[in-house]
Amino acid sequence: MTIYLDHAATAPINGAAIEALNAQMRKVGNASSLHNPGRSIRKDVEDARHALSELVGAAPSEIIFTGSGTEANNLAIKGFFWQSPERNVIVTSAFEHHAILDPIEWLVEHESAEQILIPITRAGLIDLDFLKAVVASRAAEIAVISIMHSNNELGAIQPIAEVVNIAREIPVHTDAVQSFGKVEFNFDSLGVTAATISAHKVGGPLGVAALILKRGLDLTPILHGGGQEREIRSGTLNAPAIVAFTAAAQDAIANREENFRKVRHLRDYFISRLQVILPDVRINSISDPALPGILNATFPGTESDALLLLLDTEGISASAGSACSAGVPRPSHVLMALGLSESDADASLRLSIGTTNTEKEIDQVLAILPSVVERARNAFVVSELI
Ligand SMILES: Cc1ncc(COP(=O)(O)O)c(C=O)c1O
Repeated sequence: MTIYLDHAATAPINGAAIEALNAQMRKVGNASSLHNPGRSIRKDVEDARHALSELVGAAPSEIIFTGSGTEANNLAIKGFFWQSPERNVIVTSAFEHHAILDPIEWLVEHESAEQILIPITRAGLIDLDFLKAVVASRAAEIAVISIMHSNNELGAIQPIAEVVNIAREIPVHTDAVQSFGKVEFNFDSLGVTAATISAHKVGGPLGVAALILKRGLDLTPILHGGGQEREIRSGTLNAPAIVAFTAAAQDAIANREENFRKVRHLRDYFISRLQVILPDVRINSISDPALPGILNATFPGTESDALLLLLDTEGISASAGSACSAGVPRPSHVLMALGLSESDADASLRLSIGTTNTEKEIDQVLAILPSVVERARNAFVVSELI
């Protein structure tokens, strides 16, 4: 038995994306070449860019394809910072993904940037009053404000339109990796300067993503070479992955409302049953509006490593936070930003539900969970469980 409850780490690739990927991989040509095969690949890429731009509410020229969401986030942070040498402050939230926090930390260490972290309220939202105060006192020094559209461990959707209002002339970037394809996201109507989306979170292939960047704006590149993608992101375009990204996004957006209802129902059902069978479990993902499938809970008296290991031996895949920091035994910075103690953060799991899950699977997990929690509570060290 395998029950996959880690859709926020990566979602299964969907059929439309596999077909598109397969068909495109059979073609030869570099999209930058002038010969016939090259021009044919270029047309496929531009058609995909056009279709994706419509799905995301942007102009085709505003899509800059990258190799990952991590790369797009790095490009946004470093690109905006280097683009305005007279501004050295980067404003972000305390519970961003490491693909935002770490490039900022790097700039602080190597390029004398200053980072200002916006705290998180207990409801899982950025503190807008704090942001207002920062902008009121430091506006002329801020290179970019980067706030995620929804949090990957809690699902909480952030008030980005209000951030844009507060920022006025300051560029605003939003990491929409978890939101795109699952909840309403429209680049143009949101009014942000830049946004990150990533294919493998919406049923597309790994290794392709995009930074959406307002027309006419320049960013200092981090990759130099052939000058592709408005000379902002050099590198031969990964045509099969780009075409498959669009195919997956089309599928996700066409079925978005139905998928939302299905996944949200599974999560609500899971939570209501969980609270009956394990009454001392505390649910951390309580905010609304939120992504439909994220369930984050603290299992007092346990350690997430033990829970994960025991669930894995039962064929259930979950996560203790963002997969990108999995393997590194430290409590989630997201839960700590929310105000949880280190031991509570360390006793928490993220179960992320997707469209491929069923109510039967949730019942199977619920049937196993009490004994898993019991065993995790009795384990003094994780090695005892192996
Ligand atoms: C919110 C968020 N931003 C960025 C990333 C990184 O995206 P990628 O895996 O495409 O590098 C992730 C992946 O977990 C994420 O959840």
